[in-house]
Amino acid sequence: MKAHRIALLAACAMAASLSLAQTPAKLKIGLMLPYTGTYAALGIAIENGFRLFVAEKDGKLAGREIEFVKVDDESDPSKATDNVNKLVKRDNVDVLVGSVHSGVAMAMAKVAKDTGTILIVPNAGADIVTGAMCAPNIFRSSFSNWQPAYAMGEVAAKKGARRAVTLTHKYAAGDESVKGFREAFEKGGGQIVKDLNLPFPGVEFQALLTEIAALKPDAVYVFFAGGAAVKFVKDYAAAGLKKSIPLYGAGFLTDGTLDAQGADADGLITALHYADSLGTPRDNAFRLAYAKTYKLQPDVYAVQGYDAAQMLGIGLTAAKGDITKKAEFTAALEKARIDSPRGSFMLSKAHNPVQDIYLRQVTGKENKVVNVAIKALADPARGCKM
Ligand code: BEZ
Repeated sequence: MKAHRIALLAACAMAASLSLAQTPAKLKIGLMLPYTGTYAALGIAIENGFRLFVAEKDGKLAGREIEFVKVDDESDPSKATDNVNKLVKRDNVDVLVGSVHSGVAMAMAKVAKDTGTILIVPNAGADIVTGAMCAPNIFRSSFSNWQPAYAMGEVAAKKGARRAVTLTHKYAAGDESVKGFREAFEKGGGQIVKDLNLPFPGVEFQALLTEIAALKPDAVYVFFAGGAAVKFVKDYAAAGLKKSIPLYGAGFLTDGTLDAQGADADGLITALHYADSLGTPRDNAFRLAYAKTYKLQPDVYAVQGYDAAQMLGIGLTAAKGDITKKAEFTAALEKARIDSPRGSFMLSKAHNPVQDIYLRQVTGKENKVVNVAIKALADPARGCKM
C-alpha cells in the first residue's frame, strides 16, 4: 500500500515536471507608454489595441503567454533613457513596445540599438527612428512624421492655398511634421509665411491665434495631438478663425478627440493613415471587437497598438517563439503583409509602414474618408543604411 502510494506520487511529480518543461516561459513585454499628461489617452488606446489582438489569439503569441512590465513614461524625454534601461537591464524584458512621444522613442531606439533588444514603436513618428537610426531590430507599426504631413501639404497646395502659417509644439514631431508639410506645399507652388510654435505640452494659444489673425494666411497647418489638440481646436473656433482661415492638420488633430471637441471640429480636413469610415470587413470586425471590449470607439492609436501586437506575433512565430532568433524574426517581418484595420501594408526596407494616407473630413463625430490623398506612401528613410 505504502509502495503503491510512493509510486503514485513519483508519477504525479514526473507528470508535473514534464508539463512544466513543455510550457514555455512567458514573453516579457516592456510596455513604455504615457499614462498621464496630454498624451495619456493615446497610451491607453495603444495598450487596448495591443491587448485586443493578444486576446484574439487566446492570450498567446507563438504559443507564449504574455507578461507586461508597464512604465508610464509621462511623455518626458528627460526620463526616457533611465526608464528604458530599467526595462532592459533590471526587468530583463524580451521585447520593447513604445512609445507615443518622438523624444521618448528616440531614447528607446538608442537603447534598443545598443543592446539589440527588439523594439516595436506603436506611435511616435520621429523620422530618425526609421531613418539614420534604422536597425534590423527596430520596427514601427505607425507612421513617420513626414508621411501624413507631406500628404496634407500636397492637398493644401492643390486646393489653391498659396500662403500658409504653421503652428506646432516645439519638439521633433512638430518640427518634422511642419518640414514634411512644407516640402510638398512648396513643391505645389505654396509658400510658408511664418512658422509658429510653443513649448510642449503648453496650451497657451491666445497670442499665437492673434498673430495668425494678423497674418491673414490662406491656410493654417498644425501638428497637435491628445489633450492639446482638443484645446487648440476649441480655441481656434472661439477666436473666430474657423470661419475665415481653413485649418489643416496631420490627422492627430481630430483623432480620438472628437467627443471632446464637439461642433468646433465639424468640417475640419486632415490627413492620416486611418479613418473612421473605411467600411472594409477587416476594419468593421476590428471596430466591433474593440467597441465591445472597451465600450469605446477605436482610433488610430488603437489600430497602431493592435498592429504592433500583430507584428510581434508574425516575428515570434517565424522565430518559433524564441525571441533570441533575431534573424528569423526580422526576415519574417521584412516580407510580411500586415493585415491591418487601416488596410494591409508592408514594411519599407527601413521597417516603417508603406501605407495609404487618407484625406478625411470631420462629419458627425467621425473622421470620414474623402479620398486617398496618396497611395502606398513610403517614408524617404533619409540616412538609413541597412
Ligand atoms: C510624436 O511625438 O511622434 C507624436 C505624438 C502624438 C501623435 C503623433 C506623433
